[in-house]
Amino acid sequence: MLSDQKEPAKADRVNALIAEMSLGEKVGQMVQVSSDDGTLTDTLRDNIRGGRIGSVLNQVNPDVVAEMQRIARDESRLGIPLLIGRDVIHGFNTVLPIPLGQAASWNRELVQKGARYSAMEAASRGVNWTFAPMLDVSRDPRWGRIAESLGEDPYLASELGAAMVRGFQTDDLTQADSILSCAKHFAGYGATESGRDYNSANIPDTELHNTYFPPFQAALAAGVQSVMTSFSDVNGEPPTASVWLLRKILREKWGFPGFVVSDWGSINELVSHGVAENDCEAAQLAVNAGVNMDMVSNVYASYLQDLVEQGIIDEAWIDEMVAQILGVKFKLGLFEASLDTVDSRLPTENHLNMARQLALESVVLLKNDQDLLPLDIESSQTIAVIGPLADDGYEQMGTWVFDGDAELSQTVLDALKDSHGNSTTVRHVRALDTTRSYDAREFDHARTAARESDVVLLVLGEESILSGEAHCRSDIRLPGAQEALIEAIVECGKPIVLVIMAGRPLVLDAIVDKVDAILFAWHPGSMGGPAIVDLLFGDAVPSGKLPITFPRAVGQIPIFYSHRNTGRPPSKDTVTHVDDIEARASQTSIGNQSFHLDVDPSPQYCFGYGLSYTEFEYSELTLQPLRVKAGSQVEIDVCVTNTGSREGEEIVQLYTRDPVASLARPIRELKDFCRIKLAPGERRHIHFSLPTDILAFFDRDGRKRLEPGRFQLWVGGSSEADLIADFELVG
Ligand code: GLC
Repeated sequence: MLSDQKEPAKADRVNALIAEMSLGEKVGQMVQVSSDDGTLTDTLRDNIRGGRIGSVLNQVNPDVVAEMQRIARDESRLGIPLLIGRDVIHGFNTVLPIPLGQAASWNRELVQKGARYSAMEAASRGVNWTFAPMLDVSRDPRWGRIAESLGEDPYLASELGAAMVRGFQTDDLTQADSILSCAKHFAGYGATESGRDYNSANIPDTELHNTYFPPFQAALAAGVQSVMTSFSDVNGEPPTASVWLLRKILREKWGFPGFVVSDWGSINELVSHGVAENDCEAAQLAVNAGVNMDMVSNVYASYLQDLVEQGIIDEAWIDEMVAQILGVKFKLGLFEASLDTVDSRLPTENHLNMARQLALESVVLLKNDQDLLPLDIESSQTIAVIGPLADDGYEQMGTWVFDGDAELSQTVLDALKDSHGNSTTVRHVRALDTTRSYDAREFDHARTAARESDVVLLVLGEESILSGEAHCRSDIRLPGAQEALIEAIVECGKPIVLVIMAGRPLVLDAIVDKVDAILFAWHPGSMGGPAIVDLLFGDAVPSGKLPITFPRAVGQIPIFYSHRNTGRPPSKDTVTHVDDIEARASQTSIGNQSFHLDVDPSPQYCFGYGLSYTEFEYSELTLQPLRVKAGSQVEIDVCVTNTGSREGEEIVQLYTRDPVASLARPIRELKDFCRIKLAPGERRHIHFSLPTDILAFFDRDGRKRLEPGRFQLWVGGSSEADLIADFELVG
């Protein structure tokens, strides 16, 4: 029986409906099928009419969706509407930067707006449920799905994931263009071993509570109404069969009111995991764990009714599973919704403008020697545009773009010609057919273009297929002959701006010193071209900050900023390099500390890093009170000054550390951030209020611990900020 203090009327409607349902109709609500081929087959019609299906995914033809809903509402016995699901991960027809790129914007409001516009476009095709936001914290860029994540930090992922939930659902789920969001993949998927997808994840319970759970808790607080289980087993237990995760934590501890959907086929994958003998046992394990809906494995449709009739599963438990699904359908207003699609004129100009702004704020300036950027139009009369991603509207969209319209894309070459074609001569050479190509026959052509130009714009990176689900890489350098292409262009002796489009951090160690400037654009989406060109010529100033650490070498992975200190942290002065070790050096002569012999222990670029065309100075950091009582808050003030000659936006970041606690705590943790725009020379005082509760951590039993003692606090423009202050938490 569903009870809902906030909406008792809805709960009554749910319970009344369940009382009328046959067991077969109840099981039907727990079944999701895919309409991959886009047609409405007779089988699908019959199953909808017979009440044997509760949801369909991958159908985005509005007329077919309307017909499916009409059958469900007007021809089935009880008229229960369908949930129509789709992966609206970073846009719909208008494609936004990949989520990892959006995370580099650190812009809660803009990320929320991006989800809002995406929901409007999807709802106009009859979609009422998206399988987003993906909230898997990940610290392994070998993993293809890091592209879909919001990066390595629980706080940043929490803030932006909650923003996406608000954008998709608005504060009125019954609104015609509100769509149900789905927090996925619960839980710990981002720790998949060796960055290989679907692999096991071994995560201590303290790490689950302190690192992997918070974004899901933030999504719940933002009102998310569905959760998806993850493929990877966590410590030997697949989440799709985990009573601990889905009932003890998600429902009993966190009070989640919505429903859980398995990931694609992950119920019958319990057999492959080795926790179920067969599909029937898999069905029993999953439903007992609290998986409400079976995504396409057909295991619930095949076995649940028998399991109830044999008395193995209690029908009252099925009623509870179904009530949670129906409760969400009522919250979505599906029973009253019109079958007309909401606005088939979408996408519109303002969607493209929003995509452009999000792309602008997602790009991270990694290097800018001699202030080469922004380009001076006078000294950039002829520009060589070289590389396989300079003019590829499909590849710049990135992974998970089922409904992305490549025709909407504006490439770097398009934008350069549109905006500067009258004043600048552009010499375009693709040079490599794909990012994986080793065919260097076009390199001479590229060299000629470079020699005849004032500046070279290289647009390189990864094709979209090299990231995303199941597309993991063991070597994360620029693929194919792209490094060789850089070498070839360097010989021409011209200034080089490198724009990288990729679905993950790349190892850039071999090329970072060979080019003058680097803009990292992730896969920037439909409007990546105009955004990048605006930045190249200073019509916009880079403001992106890395949401993920860039390693110097793949062997450093996992490498992330919020690590623990260890008993022997590497100290700069003793670190040596494998080539410098004297022959027959004694075992202890080079220092027994935590580093690799063959690579500097620091990252190539740290979390929160990003340059601007101006500089920002931090000063006057003050805290009040210096002794703060648990349950109150610390008031923090800092002054930020734009000391450069251009207006710029800065992302002010606040980190804390608990240097002595009952468990070793990270050397820094992000606790707040804000974006500010400052004119040249402008000084501004920024204020943060830090509730002491945010300083707590969970122990191995999942108990929240707020321990009195000294805390350190930094404010600055990256996780390596050095403006520091101390305060004390008193009991
Ligand atoms: C996929 C993904 C999941 C997605 C679902 C439906 O395998 O793991 O994130 O939402 O199936 O496409």
